[in-house]
Amino acid sequence: MSRPVLIDTDPGCDDAVALLHALERPDLEVVGLSTVHGNAPVAETTENARRILELVGRTDVPVARGADRPLLVDLETAEHIHGEGGIQGDLPEPTAATRPIDVHGARFIVEQARAHTGDLVLAAIGPLTNVALALAMEPALPDLLDELVFMGGAAFTRGNVTPLAEANVHSDPHAAKRVVRDARPTVVGLDVTRRATLPPERIDGLPRDDPLGRSIDAWLTYYGPEDLERNRIDAAALHDALVLAAVADDRVLETDPYPLEVGADDGLARGALVADADGVTGREPNGRVAVAADYERFRALVGGSLERLVERVDVSVPE
Ligand code: BDR
Ligand code: CA
Repeated sequence: MSRPVLIDTDPGCDDAVALLHALERPDLEVVGLSTVHGNAPVAETTENARRILELVGRTDVPVARGADRPLLVDLETAEHIHGEGGIQGDLPEPTAATRPIDVHGARFIVEQARAHTGDLVLAAIGPLTNVALALAMEPALPDLLDELVFMGGAAFTRGNVTPLAEANVHSDPHAAKRVVRDARPTVVGLDVTRRATLPPERIDGLPRDDPLGRSIDAWLTYYGPEDLERNRIDAAALHDALVLAAVADDRVLETDPYPLEVGADDGLARGALVADADGVTGREPNGRVAVAADYERFRALVGGSLERLVERVDVSVPE
């Protein structure tokens, strides 16, 4: 039986790899995408999500456009990392087939959680605004889900937008605070995602002369030289893809329970996800944090999905 998963996303190069992997897994059923501001404004992340679905011929997957700004702080986007419009690659224009449904992304999350009571995995790989809004609409959301997993935070490592904060949590710290307090999440942060790389040479038969091959190549290598140097890695970090690899295979990540909190006040601690490792707060664990990853398993899983995809999708232009 396949595992239903709803992906809340802000594509984004690493989001794109995560989506391709999830869509290609026979053991996952992607019930839809909700989009959110993040790597670009939501109009663009929504368009990017649609273009990715068009690229791989999955226009059957519903797209629900979500929040266009964080709950309280100003919108910040990351085109300087992901490219103009928030994504790189060679993507088709969206058609009417992927027009967003007439439901807000947050409401779509609630509806899908109710429709798949107890079974749905909510994988959030952008700022947590939609998830926090969904929680406000339906406080029982955590009980309706099988699991809520999000890419965010830097619990035991340095941040990527400030010394303490990772981008998804920093972009909407109030939303992240609400989710961490109330939704018992599994948190997959920079502790493990920074080393989740997949050099394109690892993909057998990756075509270099068609839109799908060119897009995959661009997404696996979206970091510029400075990003690589700062992160001390030799290929781009596929943060979000690690989350969807772990949803497909529970041997990818090791997680431990911790009392968790998010700093939301302006200043150095904005967006810091804090795990109380020694129990000094005396609080009970309210979530889990990924503390180790099997990167070879990650590469085999995601690489395998991409290989199957390029074999399946014929994007060659007819003569
Ligand atoms: C996260 O921020 C975004 O830029 C990526 O898509 C990922 O979700 C990494 O900090
Ligand atoms: Ca993302």
